[in-house]
Amino acid sequence: MENVPILNFDSLASWADPDLEELLELAAELKARNYRSDAGRGKVLGLIFFNPSLRTKVSFETAAIHLGAGSTVIHPGSGSWPLETRIGAVMDGNKTEHIKEAVGVLSRYCDVIGVRAFAGLKDRFEDAGDTLIRRIVEFADVPVINLESANEHPCQGMADWLTLSELFPDGTAQRSFVLSWAPHPNPLPMAVPNTALEVAIRSGMDVTLACPPEYLPDDDRLGYLRSLADGKGSYFDISHDQEQGFRDADVIYAKSWASQQLVYDNPEEEARLRREEYRGWTVSEARMNLTNNARFMHCLPVRRNVVVTDKVLDSANAVHIQQAENRLHVQKAILMKLWNLSL
Ligand code: CP
Repeated sequence: MENVPILNFDSLASWADPDLEELLELAAELKARNYRSDAGRGKVLGLIFFNPSLRTKVSFETAAIHLGAGSTVIHPGSGSWPLETRIGAVMDGNKTEHIKEAVGVLSRYCDVIGVRAFAGLKDRFEDAGDTLIRRIVEFADVPVINLESANEHPCQGMADWLTLSELFPDGTAQRSFVLSWAPHPNPLPMAVPNTALEVAIRSGMDVTLACPPEYLPDDDRLGYLRSLADGKGSYFDISHDQEQGFRDADVIYAKSWASQQLVYDNPEEEARLRREEYRGWTVSEARMNLTNNARFMHCLPVRRNVVVTDKVLDSANAVHIQQAENRLHVQKAILMKLWNLSL
């Protein structure tokens, strides 16, 4: 039998703009119709969560129900076997099963496997290579969906892109998008900021990354983002002054992430900067007043009065709930594409 390549939704980098735009059009149509169908009857969506979730878990299970499909959720080590992820590991510790067998078996039961596997923030090279999701793609015999890996959160990115297109129905081009770093008690991975920047650039917006100097993405990611911006002929700049970055912005997207320069080698200093030195980077009403009446975006979950003040989050300009709703519609579209279902 001929080997047909498996279509994964594991990285936005492997999807061309027209294919992503087609998914967005389908998602908008599904949203407009409040779409329900039994076209996916008999299909099963397998979801592996190495890390917690509210939106991703519920929106994917809901999307499956709306398509007439079923879903099963696995939390390794909590009600299912702890999974070993390292190649060549001598499994004489507390990990009972290897992902090679687990994913191989799930491929025989499920028609798509979704995987959430955050960056560990312990091994720079493991995280930079998005190693775990790459291994799972290799071991799976069915399409794999990235539910947030070390470096990317493509489903969140698509929901954000749909939200931006709803906010600016005349087009996102030349609108100004600012991704602002924000303080947080914990070191967080780069997946959301990486993807938010990618999506804003690919949607044709003028993009500014506002972050303290220690919080730049790594050189490879910056190079990738710059090449995307060059390809689109779009503006992409960096400001280490939050006030300057916010001036005249149409969208402020807030997110915290750990300093890639420090988190692997000097986590104590990284924590000090995040909690003390840059505590003033909380997104406040005074900062939002510098913008062009900007909409406020966040992927959630969000720490109130640390990342963003109550006043901003509770204002009419905050669209975080709309972003979360759009997870459902874009993921329904992604499942339909991977399962070859039509309207
Ligand atoms: N934004 C997002 O992925 O939310 P959860 O972590 O709750 O799934």
